[in-house]
Amino acid sequence: MSKAESLHGQWRSRWTYFLAATGSAVGLGNIWKFPYIAGEYGGGAFVLVYLLCIVVVGWPVLIAEAAIGRRGRKSPLNSMLDLARAAGASPHWRWLGWAHAVTGLLILSFYTVIAGWSLFYIVESAAGIFATGERAVVERVFRDFTGDFSAVLGYSTLFLSITMLCIGRGVEKGIEASLRYVMPGMLALLLVLVGYAMSSGDFEAGLRFLFAPDFSALTVNAVLVALGHAFFTLGLGAGAMMIYGAYTPARMSLPRSAVDIAVADTFIALLAGLALFPILFASDLEPQQGPGLIFLTLPIAFGNMPFGTLFGTVFFVMLALAAYSSAISMIESMVTIWIEKWRVSRAFAATVLGVIVWLLSLGTVMSFSIAHEPLLWDKNFFQLLDYITSNLLLPLVSLGTAIFAGWVVRRPVLEETLRARSRAVFTLWYGAVRWLAPIAIGLVFLSAIGFFSS
Ligand code: PHE
Repeated sequence: MSKAESLHGQWRSRWTYFLAATGSAVGLGNIWKFPYIAGEYGGGAFVLVYLLCIVVVGWPVLIAEAAIGRRGRKSPLNSMLDLARAAGASPHWRWLGWAHAVTGLLILSFYTVIAGWSLFYIVESAAGIFATGERAVVERVFRDFTGDFSAVLGYSTLFLSITMLCIGRGVEKGIEASLRYVMPGMLALLLVLVGYAMSSGDFEAGLRFLFAPDFSALTVNAVLVALGHAFFTLGLGAGAMMIYGAYTPARMSLPRSAVDIAVADTFIALLAGLALFPILFASDLEPQQGPGLIFLTLPIAFGNMPFGTLFGTVFFVMLALAAYSSAISMIESMVTIWIEKWRVSRAFAATVLGVIVWLLSLGTVMSFSIAHEPLLWDKNFFQLLDYITSNLLLPLVSLGTAIFAGWVVRRPVLEETLRARSRAVFTLWYGAVRWLAPIAIGLVFLSAIGFFSS
């Protein structure tokens, strides 16, 4: 039998686990990435392929991570070590646990910088700086701010401090207590924005962009983009779902809750699209990818609409909340490794790790000002870190995790841990994690390193 509780804490109920895991999944990726790539790569056709990817890769790997965490009830490092030992496999599998935590930490080091931007944008929108909606003004604010080393560092430090403070307070008093308000609050603000987009924006054009299926845009590349996004958005391969799984109540069905999390994540990504595009199209603005979409194009659009100052501010508050619930999940597994390995207190681990992430974040902060020149492969520090984590580490670590769960851990152990409602569900998952997911992730990984294009 797996142990009933982790020494680091436990979710009070299925519901709070759902809030935390959905909070981890819903983040900057849902708001600027998903709507854009969906529109760009074939609307409804892309959404269908993306859903398929969530089912084929996302669902099995999410369950695998949560199951490893739940069985071990420890940090990813020790959970993997315990499971490997129990299966008579090499203790080197613990390095995969390390890799999970390191990936999460690296992602947090640039995520906190972009999240810091959203804090600055809350202040600017509330002050009415974008009220005129003039492109020149918005562009100047963006350029001046992102190029200002100390301002960006200040906001990013503020965001990171809030994140680490929450982590330092622990699973129940920090993560659970704050997400109880943050998640419903975020969803409410998003719904307000969708309502605003319906009444003041060009809702029809938005719907068309997001859903009208264009099968000609559905290239091989589009399929790979969909697959890659599926595990970034679910936060797979970065320790988050594994450590959150370690805090789940023992009886809850993991396959069932993985469905709930994946559905909620996709639903929120679609809602974000329904809030964004009608607002952009109302001002005849072209959607673009990346931070430019929300930090340049969107403020112009809000500035040109009734009550734009108010709703623009609402948008950036919503964005900061979504980023916060993801950020805390990126560092929790490293904190647990430190607590177990060096027997330090949670507060100490959170403080020192906060400093380490902060030091690393300096590289990203500088990438927009003093060090925007490319370092390697035509990319600066920030772009390099984003590329290495999203395109190399997440797929590789997820691949390793699927192989570990599917081929190393013994089947009866998994059967006991998953708590699937029926045998058929278990068999389906087992086939997916052994075959489908590794093959699909292997393909994305090869394409990410340019295997097919050279
Ligand atoms: N899922 C988050 C997003 O969409 C990002 C994330 C990555 C969260 C890795 C946790 C771990 O923004």
